[in-house]
Amino acid sequence: MQKRTIVALPGDGIGRVVLEETIRVLEKAGFNASYVEGDIGWEFWKKEGNPLPDRTIALLEKYKTGLFGAITSKPKDAAAAELDPSLEDKGLIYSSPIVGLRQHFNLDVCIRPCKTYKGNPLNFIRRGRGDTIEEPAVDVAIFRQNTEGLYGGVEWSNPPDIVYKGLASHPRFMKNFGNVPVEELSVSTRIFTKKATERILRAAFTYARKFGYKSVTVCEKPNVIRETSGMMYKMAQEIQAADFSEIELWNTNIDAQMMWLTKNPENYGVIVAGNMFGDIVSDGFAGLIGGLGFACSANLGEEVSVFEPTHGSAPKYADYPVSIVNPIAMMESACMMLDHLGEMEIAKRIRKSIATVIQDGKVRTYDMMKMTGRADVIENGAASTRQMTDTIINNL
Ligand code: NAI
Ligand code: MG
Repeated sequence: MQKRTIVALPGDGIGRVVLEETIRVLEKAGFNASYVEGDIGWEFWKKEGNPLPDRTIALLEKYKTGLFGAITSKPKDAAAAELDPSLEDKGLIYSSPIVGLRQHFNLDVCIRPCKTYKGNPLNFIRRGRGDTIEEPAVDVAIFRQNTEGLYGGVEWSNPPDIVYKGLASHPRFMKNFGNVPVEELSVSTRIFTKKATERILRAAFTYARKFGYKSVTVCEKPNVIRETSGMMYKMAQEIQAADFSEIELWNTNIDAQMMWLTKNPENYGVIVAGNMFGDIVSDGFAGLIGGLGFACSANLGEEVSVFEPTHGSAPKYADYPVSIVNPIAMMESACMMLDHLGEMEIAKRIRKSIATVIQDGKVRTYDMMKMTGRADVIENGAASTRQMTDTIINNL
């Protein structure tokens, strides 16, 4: 097996512990790699005024694959208040380094699989006919366009003259907002490009074919958001007809999908959406399979890829002497990395071990025991992050 170099990006808070424990699992599972640590996150914002230093970008440029824990983000003013005094008057503005990474390396395809583990006490259940209780097995993969749309960052409050004039050229704008003073306007744009839309759609169809899913669902709102959602759905129809005719194309509206996902989540396979709706629908499905402790993701560009759990840095648990958080989301993200690198066998072993530990049910982190996260959960029978990791390693 070829030896790889992985850029380890622990970031802040619990990102550090879940990444460290995940690397232990990777090593024990026989993944042949060395890890170089990349600086990212709050510490570097405070010290250097940049949460994503150039040296970290350079590491990813060189090694191409990143395994990322989580970072802490704070609103603009709160961020500015924590800057080192020597950086105070330099006009530095905080922006999220993970969003920065996605933009810099054009990590435009985000995959968020949500798959039920048998025996997970956090699995979604619903009422069936009569008094029956059903536990539908969810197996979906959400493809979220990761760089454009509402998160593209093209927005204004009190827009400049040239923008205002552009807006005013639209009849709907004049009808609905024409007499609003410009300084009372805030505008966030939702820009879709054909190139990125085609890439996310093709990635979704290709994945459906590779892993045997029967349908791809476009989850947008084309009847109302006619230009952007409309373009995505129309392109999906064309791509499906030309190249993926064996896969069914479904179309749901994001709002209706959020209702249906608790009604019949087992009916869905691959779901594809723009940035904001993809974010929403993936959190919705993640809730059905155990929530943030289980939600993994991949950010894929043409050259560079970064794998990360969906959860954040959970600062309230960061300084516990014995960490209590669930490392499975991070380990699942590492399995996505292994799949991406062609190390499917190792990924399979790790996933199988996680499945065994969950099904055995003897070792569970506090979230799986439905406890409120506090330092005393360990005394009350919850596993620590380390115990969970050790158990997964022992079952490999
Ligand atoms: P969060 O995901 O950090 O935590 C929310 C809650 O989910 C926690 O209080 C905890 O109860 C639970 N949780 C999260 N991860 C868990 C795990 N592995 N095991 C068990 N329980 C877990 O989100 P929150 O509190 O909204 O944000 C905290 C910080 O993280 C903020 O600064 C935010 O900006 C940042 N953030 C970073 C992300 C990233 O790095 N990609 C994503 C989301 C938030
Ligand atoms: Mg989210």
